[in-house]
Amino acid sequence: MKILITGGAGFIGSHVVRLFVNKYPNYKIFNLDKLTYAGNLENLKDIEEKPNYTFIRGDIVDGEFIQNLFNEHKFDGVIHLAAESHVDRSISNPMEFIQTNIVGTVNLLNSAKAIWKDNFENKLFYHISTDEVYGSLSDEGFFTEETAYDPHSPYSASKASSDHLVRAYNDTFGLPTVISNCSNNYGQNQFPEKLIPLFINNIINEKPLPVYGKGINVRDWLYVVDHASAIDTIFHNGKVGETYNIGGNNEWKNIDLIKVLCKVMDKKLGRQAGESEKLITYIVDRAGHDLRYAIDSTKLQKELGWKPSLQFEEGLEKTVDWYLANSEWLNNVTSGAYKEYYEKQYK
Ligand code: NAD
Ligand code: TYD
Repeated sequence: MKILITGGAGFIGSHVVRLFVNKYPNYKIFNLDKLTYAGNLENLKDIEEKPNYTFIRGDIVDGEFIQNLFNEHKFDGVIHLAAESHVDRSISNPMEFIQTNIVGTVNLLNSAKAIWKDNFENKLFYHISTDEVYGSLSDEGFFTEETAYDPHSPYSASKASSDHLVRAYNDTFGLPTVISNCSNNYGQNQFPEKLIPLFINNIINEKPLPVYGKGINVRDWLYVVDHASAIDTIFHNGKVGETYNIGGNNEWKNIDLIKVLCKVMDKKLGRQAGESEKLITYIVDRAGHDLRYAIDSTKLQKELGWKPSLQFEEGLEKTVDWYLANSEWLNNVTSGAYKEYYEKQYK
């Protein structure tokens, strides 16, 4: 079996690549990644020499390149994670999101359809998406697979669009597809533009912790290794044409999570209790900021038997330990272009 994983040098993708390369030595895993600011081959150092792993640098927006790649390798399965993934960047530069998340996805769908022709047996196009396509919840309720799409940011709108296109290729052409929509991930190798690694980095450097608005927005956090295991479960046992929601049943108001993180960091850094909390700085709210995300993952748990392996406190501590032990990784990704991004975003 030849599997193409797109975006495998990114945060979640690198965990999926690692899991598949180690767990399935008989599969040939191809990691296609453009290596944008978010892609980092350092994430895959431990598996890059494995005989069943190949890295290919390339852009999913380049349709001809993608078609040639499919013609050459005749993949049996695609696990599509490549995307522009940060909401704040989608507010300042939406076009990149339209190109990669929408046009790039259609290029992959067209190429899979072209090489598989009408013989779809044992073939699968698995599209990785987000719970943000469902919009924003008030204090009650959960997103289920039946919740109507209502995206608010250019990021979530571009992901919603790609989800619709994947379903359209299933309905119209019979392409064997499956989609999963996951809640916020955290864990090692996450680029420090997202809440948890950004705040870890700022606490280490004793810089202000920029909390949007009043810090009352709620997110449902899942450890990235558990997302990778859900992807493994769905790729092998999910039903073609179906959608599965993935979540940690682990809701946190931002400010409460930040305070827990501050406590863990004080302890790990040997600082006085309360030291990191002093860095909390409330700043102007994100435009169109969704109030609450919460996933109902009953379908995945009941039908496919998946469940998360870690409690949040344990996962958070593991994450902090990893960032503290990998200061070189953190320093490398926060030099250069990151500084410009940071200045512009938080000026
Ligand atoms: P990430 O930004 O860390 O990684 C994205 C990867 O895609 C990078 O390696 C980047 O180089 C690559 N890439 C970007 N544009 C490309 C292009 N045009 N061609 C080829 N490669 C390209 O993202 P992530 O957080 O790992 O998210 C991965 C996927 O999971 C995305 O589809 C995202 O929408 C989805 N998702 C993320 C979360 C989360 O909390 N991070 C939650 C649910 C779903
Ligand atoms: P983020 O990690 O960007 O994920 P998403 O927007 O996709 O959920 O943000 C998580 C929450 O943290 C979100 O409510 C926005 C908030 N946040 C801040 O308050 N300050 C920040 O600097 C960032 C990056 C996020």
